This record gives sequence, C-alpha cells and structure tokens, in this order.
Amino acid sequence: MKRLAVVTGGNRGLGFEVCRQLAKKGIDVILTSRDVQKGQAAAVELKKASLPVTFHQLDVNSEKSIDELKSFIEKEYGRLDILVNNAGVMIDRKNNGDDYPSVLKADLDTFRETMESNVFGVLRMCQVFIPLMKKNNYGRIVNVSSGMGQLTYMSGGWPAYRVSKTALNSLTAILAFEVKDSNILINSMCPGWVKTDMGGPSATRSVEEGVDTMVYLSTLPDNGPRGKLLRDRQIIAW
Ligand SMILES: NC(=O)c1ccc[n+]([C@@H]2O[C@H](COP(=O)([O-])OP(=O)(O)OC[C@H]3O[C@@H](n4cnc5c(N)ncnc54)[C@H](OP(=O)(O)O)[C@@H]3O)[C@@H](O)[C@H]2O)c1
Repeated sequence: MKRLAVVTGGNRGLGFEVCRQLAKKGIDVILTSRDVQKGQAAAVELKKASLPVTFHQLDVNSEKSIDELKSFIEKEYGRLDILVNNAGVMIDRKNNGDDYPSVLKADLDTFRETMESNVFGVLRMCQVFIPLMKKNNYGRIVNVSSGMGQLTYMSGGWPAYRVSKTALNSLTAILAFEVKDSNILINSMCPGWVKTDMGGPSATRSVEEGVDTMVYLSTLPDNGPRGKLLRDRQIIAW
C-alpha cells in the first residue's frame, strides 16, 4: 500500500532531506513549509527528480494553518500514515561577554517562542492528525528532538532549546502511552550534530546521516519501538 507522509519544516535542512529519502522509498510526501515560496521551490526540486512530493503551506504555530492542512489531506487522501514533526527553532542568544547563552540571563520571551514551535506545534499536530491515523489503525510519528534535551546528560547553555526538547520527549512518552492499544508508534529521535543552518558548518554529520533514524522510525514494522528516544536506530536514555 502506498503510504502518505507529512513533514514539517520541509523546505530546508533535515526536513528537506527526509522528504527526499521518504519519497525515494515510494512514499507520497507532503512537504510543508511556513513560507510558501521556499516550500514550493523545495518541492519543485524534488519533483524534478520524479519524486512523489506535493507542497502545502504549514506554520506549526498557527492552528488555522494546521486545520487547513488537515482539510486538504482529508479531501485529497482521506488518510495519513506518517508524520515527521521536524520543524524547530534554536533561538537562545548569548549576552555580551558570555561564552554561550546562559540560563541565568535567558529572557522568557525566548522560552515562549521556542516552546511554541518545538513543543506546542508538535502537540497541535498530534491532536489534529492522530484521529486520522486511528481511522486506519496505522501511524508512525517521529518527533525530532535532540541530545541537548536528554536529562541524563544535561549540561548548561541554550536553556530554552534544551527545555523544549526535554518537554518534547515527555510529550512523546505521554502520546505513545495514550495510543498504546493501537498500531500508532510515536518516538523521539536525535539526529546527532548535523550540518544545516541550525547545526552550522562545523557539525560532524551530513544531512543524509542525520535523517537515517528519521526514515527508520517513519517506516517501522508493527513490532517496532514506541514511546522511546533513539539515535542511530538505537534506544538511548531520556
Ligand atoms: N542540525 C542539528 O545539528 C540538529 C541536532 C539535533 C536536533 N535537531 C533538530 O532537527 C530539526 C531540524 O533542524 P535543522 O537542523 O534542519 O534546522 P534548520 O535548518 O534551521 O531548519 C529548521 C526548519 O524548521 C522550520 N520551522 C521553524 N519554525 C517553524 C514553524 N513555526 N512552522 C513551520 N516550520 C518551522 C524552518 O522553516 P523556515 O525556513 O521558514 O525558518 C526550517 O524549515 C529541528 O527540530 C532541530 O531542533 C537538529
């Protein structure tokens, strides 16, 4: 059966590459982006390679935008199989003279803005699309998290980003528990440190390496993990 996937923040970085990799597997991919022009250009690039990719606008901070995507999917496909919650921001800023953005000087608006995209956006997407997955008793949800949110190895700096990813992991576990009697598998993953606009040029991994576990979790067999955090296809500590 041909599966249908939605990827958030698909216009660049890891989101763009996971669209490419899923489409290469023959999965119909809806590449979403909050910016219409950037998203359309990204989708055109993949379509030129004969990949089954469709563009739709999506800002995960906007309930209206999410509802419009839901209406489009219900009308055109009547199903959703895979959701990759990839969109995210890292906007913690250093203060003058500091080596890194410190929690002691963090401003709450940065926290609010970060939580809005990285946590509440994912929550809204899951609230809207899990009911559609339940109709077919099939779903794979990948919440793109980060080792920076692991409580086991918590350290300093970038506090809004870290807290948002820890909260995202908690959301993953709660959601996975609440759908435990269905064939909907919800997991968090860390892509490693990846060369993207967010990761920067010094990062150690390519986007291809970064999306490997995203693709793996998007296409899990029915007996795959649920409610876990993974890196390199292995379950790791929260
Ligand atoms: N790169 C790394 O080393 C690394 C490591 C660990 C985890 N991650 C996670 O991996 C994910 C992707 O990161 P990346 O490295 O590919 O970052 P990126 O190059 O900065 O791309 C981020 C993407 O998220 C989109 N986005 C942000 N807010 C959005 C919103 N409200 N609605 C819709 N789209 C939104 C951006 O859209 P615009 O183009 O419109 O801004 C962009 O497409 C993030 O969740 C990040 O936290 C990355």
